[in-house]
Amino acid sequence: MTVLVVYESMYGNTHRIAEAIGRGLTEGGVPAEVRSTAEAQRHPPGAGDVLVVGAPTHGHGLSRENSREQAMRDASRHHLDVDGSATGPGVREWLAALDAQGGRATAFDTRVKGPAMLTGRASQKIVRALEEHRYELVAEPESFLVTMGNELVPGEEERAVAWGRGLAAAL
Ligand SMILES: Cc1cc2nc3c(=O)[nH]c(=O)nc-3n(C[C@H](O)[C@H](O)[C@H](O)COP(=O)(O)O)c2cc1C
Repeated sequence: MTVLVVYESMYGNTHRIAEAIGRGLTEGGVPAEVRSTAEAQRHPPGAGDVLVVGAPTHGHGLSRENSREQAMRDASRHHLDVDGSATGPGVREWLAALDAQGGRATAFDTRVKGPAMLTGRASQKIVRALEEHRYELVAEPESFLVTMGNELVPGEEERAVAWGRGLAAAL
């Protein structure tokens, strides 16, 4: 069994959370591979692979080309570091093109700290798309929080490691 943690990230936070989840899975005895959407496009999941898919919340849901362009403009305006994976496809596009017929999966997102009713959660849209591909949910989706300044809230990386460990136990 291979677990693939597939992420989209503009400013690196979702990437860091994906790596932390991968560490937690591995610590829990389930080795995981962490891939950006571009890498996962080149090396798609195989039959029986477990998918853990994560994305930043944009416009209350998954990013689109225009929100990623907006994120790039915001990066230069606010001197934010851009993740090496930022020019790759969004999770929305990666999932739409995914040629997979089911298996086990779950989702995570990053979003601004606040009530989910106000911020939205990209992971809900990911779950819907995974279910359309006949994936069965192995764990409830999780959100990891960033500040308004686009930095992970302290403790979120550690929480992601713990979530990965819990996921390993569920698998
Ligand atoms: C264009 C744009 C739209 C956003 N919309 C939302 C939103 O609706 N809700 C929210 O919680 N955060 C929103 N954010 C903040 C992102 O969720 C945040 O930048 C992201 O979690 C950081 O992850 P990353 O570093 O992996 O890109 C938005 C950010 C951008 C750039």
